[in-house]
Amino acid sequence: MEAKKVHILENPYISEKLTILRDKNTSYLVFRSVLEELGFLIGVEMSKSLPVVEKRITTPLNVEVKGISITNRDKMILIPILRASIPLAWGMLKAYPEAKMGLIVARRIEESIKTDEKGIRFDIELSYKKLPRIDNNSIVVIIDPMIATGSTIIRVLDEILVYNPSKIIIVGIIATPYAIDRILSKAENIEFYLLAVDEKLDERGYIVPGLGDAGDRVFGT
Ligand code: URA
Repeated sequence: MEAKKVHILENPYISEKLTILRDKNTSYLVFRSVLEELGFLIGVEMSKSLPVVEKRITTPLNVEVKGISITNRDKMILIPILRASIPLAWGMLKAYPEAKMGLIVARRIEESIKTDEKGIRFDIELSYKKLPRIDNNSIVVIIDPMIATGSTIIRVLDEILVYNPSKIIIVGIIATPYAIDRILSKAENIEFYLLAVDEKLDERGYIVPGLGDAGDRVFGT
C-alpha cells in the first residue's frame, strides 16, 4: 500500500464518528446523518489534493496578506456508487456545491465470488450510468463507503479512465489493503481518502470488523 496515496483521517472527533458507524446498535437515522456529516468532513480534508492558487487580499485593517483559493471547483465530478454512498455524496456537496455529479449503479454478483491465493473477487453488474463530460482537466471523486475487494471500483474505473481525468480520488469509510493495492495498480493518478483500513474479509467478502452492509444500514432494510 503506497502510504502517500492513501490519506486516513485521524482525530478524536472523526474516530468517535467511526465508532458510531461500527456499532451495531446505531439506528439507520443516526447512521445516515453521521455519513452525511462525514461526507462534508472528508471533503474538507480532500482539499489537500486539490489545486490552489495564491492570492493577495486586504483585511479590514488595510493590511495586505497572502491567501489562497481552491481552483477548478467546477472541474470536480462526484460519482457516488449507489446506494450506500448517497449520504456521503450529499455531505460532500456542501463542501463543493459547484461540483458536477454523475451516478453509477453497480452491484457485485454474489454468486460470481472467486477466491484464490490473491484474495476474493466478484463480477460486477453495472446497471445504470449517467456521467457529466469528463476531460483531462476533471477531478473525478468516486464515492463508496465500503471498499472490500475493489471489484466494484475497478469496474467503475473502466468507465472513467478512458477520459483521462487529471486526478481520481476514491472516498470511502473503510477499505482493505487488498482492495487499495488492486485499485492503485490501475493508474498513477489515484488517491484515497478513508477513515480506516481493516485487514480482513470474511468468506462472503464483507470487511472485518467493518460495519456490516452499509446500504442496509443507511436505508434501514
Ligand atoms: N459492502 C458493504 O456494505 N460492507 C462490506 O463489508 C463489504 C461490502
